[in-house]
Amino acid sequence: MEDLRPKIQQYFIESDTDGRPFSRIHRNVIYQRAKKEEDTTPFGTQLNVYDNDYEWLNHSINALPFNAANYDPRVVIGGPACSQPYSASVLNISAMSYGALSKNAILALNQGAKIGNFAHNTGEGGLSDYHLNGGGDIIWQIGTGYFGCRTLDGNFDPESFQKKANLPQVKMIEIKLSQGAKPGHGGILPAAKVTEEIARIRLVELGQDVASPPYHRAFDTPLTLLTFIKQLRELSNGKPVGFKLCIGHRSEFIAICKAMVQTKIYPDFVTVDGGEGGTGAAPLEFSNHVGMPLRDALAFVYDALTGFDLKQYIKIIASGKIATGFDLVKNFALGADLCNSARGMMMALGCIQALECNTNRCPTGVATQDPNLVRGLVVEDKKTRVANYHKQTLKSAAELMAAAGIKHPDDIHRVYIHRRISPDRILTYLDSYPYIPKGSLLKKPYAKQFELLMTISDPSSFSPNFNNLNWEELEWARKPMTN
Ligand SMILES: Cc1cc2nc3c(=O)[nH]c(=O)nc-3n(C[C@H](O)[C@H](O)[C@H](O)COP(=O)(O)O)c2cc1C
Repeated sequence: MEDLRPKIQQYFIESDTDGRPFSRIHRNVIYQRAKKEEDTTPFGTQLNVYDNDYEWLNHSINALPFNAANYDPRVVIGGPACSQPYSASVLNISAMSYGALSKNAILALNQGAKIGNFAHNTGEGGLSDYHLNGGGDIIWQIGTGYFGCRTLDGNFDPESFQKKANLPQVKMIEIKLSQGAKPGHGGILPAAKVTEEIARIRLVELGQDVASPPYHRAFDTPLTLLTFIKQLRELSNGKPVGFKLCIGHRSEFIAICKAMVQTKIYPDFVTVDGGEGGTGAAPLEFSNHVGMPLRDALAFVYDALTGFDLKQYIKIIASGKIATGFDLVKNFALGADLCNSARGMMMALGCIQALECNTNRCPTGVATQDPNLVRGLVVEDKKTRVANYHKQTLKSAAELMAAAGIKHPDDIHRVYIHRRISPDRILTYLDSYPYIPKGSLLKKPYAKQFELLMTISDPSSFSPNFNNLNWEELEWARKPMTN
């Protein structure tokens, strides 16, 4: 009965609006768009528009005609030190490794990305043949295990990095600092899962457990993180290099910004992953209670980069339960230049939210290595579904923006989105997250919400530093001494 419970719940009990993490109406719209079926809804909204957290977009009397909407806005990623900038779609496939996903899933995602002209992030498990043979644009992710670019004892290996980073399919490099579903956790790949193929792709030893530590060995301060970014950019001959993180201590991100100002080394992009983000497997407490949710994190990162006048060099990618046109638009409003989707893309592949990713028994062949199950995912069918889902979701976002009278995500403002916070109170994103002036973190006085962060952040250390503070200025933040 324990085993059947989730299935009975999903098929017989769950309403259209209460499925978790993705409700039935969200799953349905992804399936409809992937299959290019009718995706309109009859009879009006099923949402209770008086519930807390209900959100809506301001449309305009001056809406654009559909033929004036921009159905494939592109964003160029690459700051001043980048000589091979990448023109990206505003919706791409978020990091998911070969190993977490099946080879057929990776093939279908990559080939779908090729059809739709968007990018596919490898995840930290390295560049596999299934990524490289699909023809789609690749963002190569490098995690703490440095898979595919490591020495056998687990350190970063510039030589093997250089070889792969210069492959023409690799368009950008992403250093993974953390992900929303399990920030600060790391992981172990048990020896039993290290097949000959995995050992070859990841450059690890057969028959041995492989650790991904929760921290990086190639750098240990904001300044050395930037030196590492510079090194990767040079080794890849000027491709865009950025990092992905879920916001923990906000002062750490401020410390990285201070290091950028000091060194004039800038990442080309920052991927902000919300605490609501997905994973193949994570400890419950980490998924439920570690890491800042996307809305707050995205507004914070945009404001910090603007405050240090760095936004001009750096694009922001957002991820965390982004699956529909409205999800794209509201993240653009908060400050994202582009968005990534992981689970939305899995559903386009046929994932039914069976919640079996961590058991090797995924019934749809998406998140399993069992060859009998993997066989059921037919790449030829599913690559088209991935491309359809991408295209139809962008179409929805373009039509929403057209209804609001705008053509490009850059033109959206935080005031465009309203959110109900109680039965009779409504705030716009602008009320909740007021913009701070460009350059305002380069000199005092700082906006109140940044005062403490500016004081405890130090470019030569990730850790917040509470020593030597002027407690008279910051009396409100002082921790009372107990002895
Ligand atoms: C099966 C699976 C595997 C993932 N593997 C990685 C990974 O290797 N590296 C990473 O940074 N994030 C990984 N993620 C997280 C996603 O890239 C993304 O940050 C997160 O799921 C938010 O997107 P979503 O809400 O659209 O799923 C994984 C997610 C899933 C569902």
